[in-house]
Amino acid sequence: MKDSLGAPQSLLVLGGSSDIAMSTARKMAAARTKKIYLAGRPSQRIEDNAAELRTLGATVEVIPFDAAATDDHDKVLSQVFAADDIDVVLLAFGVLGDQAEDEKDPARAVAVAHVNYTGAVSSGIIVGQALKKQGHGSLVVLSSVAAERARRANFIYGSSKAGLDAFAQGLGDSMVGTGVHVMVVRPGFVDTKMTQGKEKTPLSTTPDAVADLIITGLRRGSHTVWAPGAFRYVMSGLRHVPRPLFRRLPM
Ligand SMILES: NC(=O)c1ccc[n+]([C@@H]2O[C@H](COP(=O)([O-])OP(=O)(O)OC[C@H]3O[C@@H](n4cnc5c(N)ncnc54)[C@H](OP(=O)(O)O)[C@@H]3O)[C@@H](O)[C@H]2O)c1
Repeated sequence: MKDSLGAPQSLLVLGGSSDIAMSTARKMAAARTKKIYLAGRPSQRIEDNAAELRTLGATVEVIPFDAAATDDHDKVLSQVFAADDIDVVLLAFGVLGDQAEDEKDPARAVAVAHVNYTGAVSSGIIVGQALKKQGHGSLVVLSSVAAERARRANFIYGSSKAGLDAFAQGLGDSMVGTGVHVMVVRPGFVDTKMTQGKEKTPLSTTPDAVADLIITGLRRGSHTVWAPGAFRYVMSGLRHVPRPLFRRLPM
């Protein structure tokens, strides 16, 4: 339950080694979020993240969670909700893939779609139901500006995020009146390990800046957050650019 000043007391991260998630968790731990679950594939990075959050005063548990292993989601997530009341769930897992290779190999393309879309549908349904049972809580879903319009250079990832984005919007609408809030976050290029070595695109940003926008959006009860905010206007224009012109744009 949020404290008397409205600060979330508990956070569950799905994709606990994500750089954007870690920036968000760090800021929330510094602002009175005392219980944090980092769910993700076992790694040194997730353990290091947990250790750092503990130094900020949070009690942290690392939970083995594979977004692709959908058959296990119910068991893993039910254990968390049975143990605790969760104020905020941050769905942060995702893979960028390698478009040039993935479009030649259906198994590789499906693996991207499976994690980004199917894994999110599976865990999102479970989290939505668990928050509804609690009668409160926010689910924050890391979508992307890529979800707004699939680009030639990145359409496998973009289409998986478009599916995720539509799913999260619908889930949010289905939760109106239940006390559950779903917030879709659409960042552009963020400087994280996912984009390491890639050329920055215009309006690129940092995990810390995205975390600030997530925390502000949570406070306001927003349903959509663009990161940075200017993407709201850029994408509303790009959405209407004719296809022959759109595929020639250098992005
Ligand atoms: N960086 C950007 O430019 C950008 C832009 C828009 C949206 N986003 C989205 O923001 C989210 C966070 O990305 P990020 O930038 O913070 O990158 P990141 O640091 O690479 O985080 C992605 C996370 O997804 C996890 N993951 C991948 N496959 C998984 C699986 N099967 N099961 C569980 N976890 C899995 C990774 O965990 P492992 O350590 O196990 O690999 C990693 O922690 C992603 O959904 C991404 O698509 C990022």
